[in-house]
Amino acid sequence: MEKTTTFITNFSKSDEYRKKIHQLIPGGAHTYSKGDDQFPALSPAAITHGKGSHVWDVDGNEYIECLGGLASISLGHAYDPVVNRVIQELWKGNNFSRPSVIEMEMAEKFLANIPGHDMIKFAKNGSTVTTAAVKLARAYTGKKLVARAAEHPFFSYDDWFIGSTDVKSGIPEEIQSLTVTFKADDLNSLKEVFEKYPGQIACVIAEPEKFNPVTKEYLQKAIDFVHSQGSLWIMDEMITGYRSHFPGSMVKFGVVPDMATWGKGIANGFSFCCLTGKREIMELGGIKAKGKEKLFLISTTHGGETCSIAAALATMEEFQKHDVIGHNHRLGEKYMQETKNIIHKHHLQNHIKVLQFPWHVSLAYFDQQGNNSWELRTLFHQEMIKRAVLFQGIFCPHFSHSDQDLEHILNAFDESCVVFKKALEDGVEKYLVGEPIKPVFRKYI
Ligand SMILES: Cc1ncc(COP(=O)(O)O)c(C=O)c1O
Repeated sequence: MEKTTTFITNFSKSDEYRKKIHQLIPGGAHTYSKGDDQFPALSPAAITHGKGSHVWDVDGNEYIECLGGLASISLGHAYDPVVNRVIQELWKGNNFSRPSVIEMEMAEKFLANIPGHDMIKFAKNGSTVTTAAVKLARAYTGKKLVARAAEHPFFSYDDWFIGSTDVKSGIPEEIQSLTVTFKADDLNSLKEVFEKYPGQIACVIAEPEKFNPVTKEYLQKAIDFVHSQGSLWIMDEMITGYRSHFPGSMVKFGVVPDMATWGKGIANGFSFCCLTGKREIMELGGIKAKGKEKLFLISTTHGGETCSIAAALATMEEFQKHDVIGHNHRLGEKYMQETKNIIHKHHLQNHIKVLQFPWHVSLAYFDQQGNNSWELRTLFHQEMIKRAVLFQGIFCPHFSHSDQDLEHILNAFDESCVVFKKALEDGVEKYLVGEPIKPVFRKYI
């Protein structure tokens, strides 16, 4: 393998940006996952533009981006067919006082891909649709509690979920107590939580495939069990949608959850998310059943924004035209295999672990005592970024990632392992510049 030639050392404009932005925007970003405390000190603070799999920062440094807009990019930045479709739509106007005709086109085409789901509701964020699913489940079942997979890191920024994390400030205890947890992908743990709260759980929410390979048998049994308890199953396809399969894991495994939530990746970075589900549940949010109590489902001025819907239609068509999933899985599998080989070559198998699936490959870092190490994580990302790979520990391949990109990422990975190894031997403080990354879900700043 060739050595990487680019070494990025100039972050001066990024440093200025970092100093100023926190005076203007709490957190300095619009998701905590993009925040300064999620990146090493030697990293870009803000991006000026992107094309395909590459992005450029405020200092003009160019990177291969590994997690495409936090996994929202499924085809590539400024991807021609999507941009062209959006521009075409924009010239027709972006928001009207009645729905745009594009809403029906989108609804029909998206639902055509999802057997067993009859209705769809659009939104701008994933959090909005998971919260809407929870509200529908509570109304449909008349029960209050939500059972969520404990290890799955994020479902919504709304109180029902955040109240069940360490970041509880601003959330009344009464609300916190309404979300309970069970061990992900574990039927016994699921049964235990239902035994502990008999007749009280409105729904279960979980990602279909997160840390363990699951089977159709498990998913079907879990869904059947939840139904036997008078509860609903919400499958969060935010990450698996358009990644594990097209359109997602529920179709891959041939199971039908009561509702599914979609977001990241289905509009190539544009703000289009949706909730799909069975008619008898979804229509609780309708206005046609005269005399029935009304449920206030998602209702937002920007929910029908035409340019984002156009982006979603163009994205769907690209997935139907090309084998995007095949491309992404091939790159992801190669990355998994090659990174494991590199880790082995450097004898780091006890210190860097390659986890999960080819469509979303993440790394875990361990110190000499076998403890999860934020310092070593930060150092590894620092070294990857120095070598022009914008890295957060996850490679989420998309259609614009090329074999050359992967070659560059693997070279950077190899060289970063050399520094990582030295840090294990000499102490990480000798190589790490600045503060280590901190968990997003922590009680204190
Ligand atoms: C599995 C999952 N569900 C829901 C969400 C929330 O989506 P959004 O950030 O668009 O609100 C995320 C975001 O990271 C997610 O990963």
